[in-house]
Amino acid sequence: MAQIKNERGGATFRCESGDTILRAALRAGIGMPYSCNTGSCGNCRFELLEGSVRHLRKDPPAWSERDLKRNRWLGCQASPDGDCRVKFRTMDEYEPPVRPAPRQAELTGVTQLTRDISEFSFRVDDDLDFRPGQYALLHVPGVEGPRAYSMSNLPGDGEWRFMIKAAPDGAATGWLFDAAPGATLTIDGPYGTAFLKPDSPRDIVLLAGGSGLSPMVSIARGAAAAGLLEDRALHVFYGGRDIPDLCDASVLGPAAAGKARFIAALSDTGPDSDWDGPTGYLHDVVADDMADRLKDCEIYFAGPAVMSSEVQKMAHEAGVPSNQLHFDEFY
Ligand SMILES: Cc1cc2nc3c(=O)[nH]c(=O)nc-3n(C[C@H](O)[C@H](O)[C@H](O)COP(=O)(O)OP(=O)(O)OC[C@H]3O[C@@H](n4cnc5c(N)ncnc54)[C@H](O)[C@@H]3O)c2cc1C
Ligand code: FES
Repeated sequence: MAQIKNERGGATFRCESGDTILRAALRAGIGMPYSCNTGSCGNCRFELLEGSVRHLRKDPPAWSERDLKRNRWLGCQASPDGDCRVKFRTMDEYEPPVRPAPRQAELTGVTQLTRDISEFSFRVDDDLDFRPGQYALLHVPGVEGPRAYSMSNLPGDGEWRFMIKAAPDGAATGWLFDAAPGATLTIDGPYGTAFLKPDSPRDIVLLAGGSGLSPMVSIARGAAAAGLLEDRALHVFYGGRDIPDLCDASVLGPAAAGKARFIAALSDTGPDSDWDGPTGYLHDVVADDMADRLKDCEIYFAGPAVMSSEVQKMAHEAGVPSNQLHFDEFY
């Protein structure tokens, strides 16, 4: 166990052996900025003033020679060798609403949703709370480094569920899609800041690209459970490539009732396709459908990094204030 002192703000927190500076800070309730938790976005960079750390992930994509020269490290990957003095800014919006913790989990069932997305249900040891839209880190046996997956259900039923898309030759998804009920792993969470903001009076727009379905389903269900859909509209846009990628409004559960709209769009249908719904990229479909209404909505989105940057551009052009946009990039 090491003591970490943040010279900017003065907080000191414990970091257990093998844990990282970011996760230890969040476990202590400290608002250290971050997003992906897997070494890809660079939001968790900090300066090391004294002591030594090493990255758990070899050559994380968001870290460069320049960082090394300046003694800057990635909080989500840096594990301390002993006590350290560090420097990073803290921000209220990153303070965890529920402090993350690792727990044992057992796979109880798998339901196929599309050709390559299935929902995995895990029974967890102690049923910690989370916010709709948050994610967890799954430590998959035999796979180096944890993978982030967003919960699709709501807390409180003793299970954490995840809608997961099979990645070609993927290490974690390869294990998960082969696993049988009874398989166990460690789930560490909850993480992420792109969760449902129940106090906003605005209508809600959700954009899910492929594997981004999971957190959007959780947010839709959370909005319904909190009674928000009694006086707010819910527009859910789901993007896939072709007909086998489709799912329908039933994935939303009780949120599909009432005024909710579920719009599926396909980006890669051939000329002989039977599909007569919207086609094209999700950000274009949303811009056409919502037009001027978009800037008055609370917008949540999840999916591949390329979709995320197109959605941000589209929302900016549509005049959506940045504080109405909520997302975690998937890598
Ligand atoms: C915040 C967030 C939420 C996500 N939510 C979902 C979701 O709900 N559903 C879904 O299907 N996918 C989700 N993903 C993507 C998911 O985490 C995986 O990237 C994807 O399933 C491929 O993993 P794989 O191991 O099968 O593929 P691989 O090709 O074996 O692994 C690729 C992924 O693993 C990461 N990685 C590789 N080595 C390491 C390491 N040592 N330590 C840490 N990371 C490493 C890479 O950055 C890359 O993202 C999310 C990603 C992020 C960042
Ligand atoms: S690189 Fe650490 S949170 Fe993304």
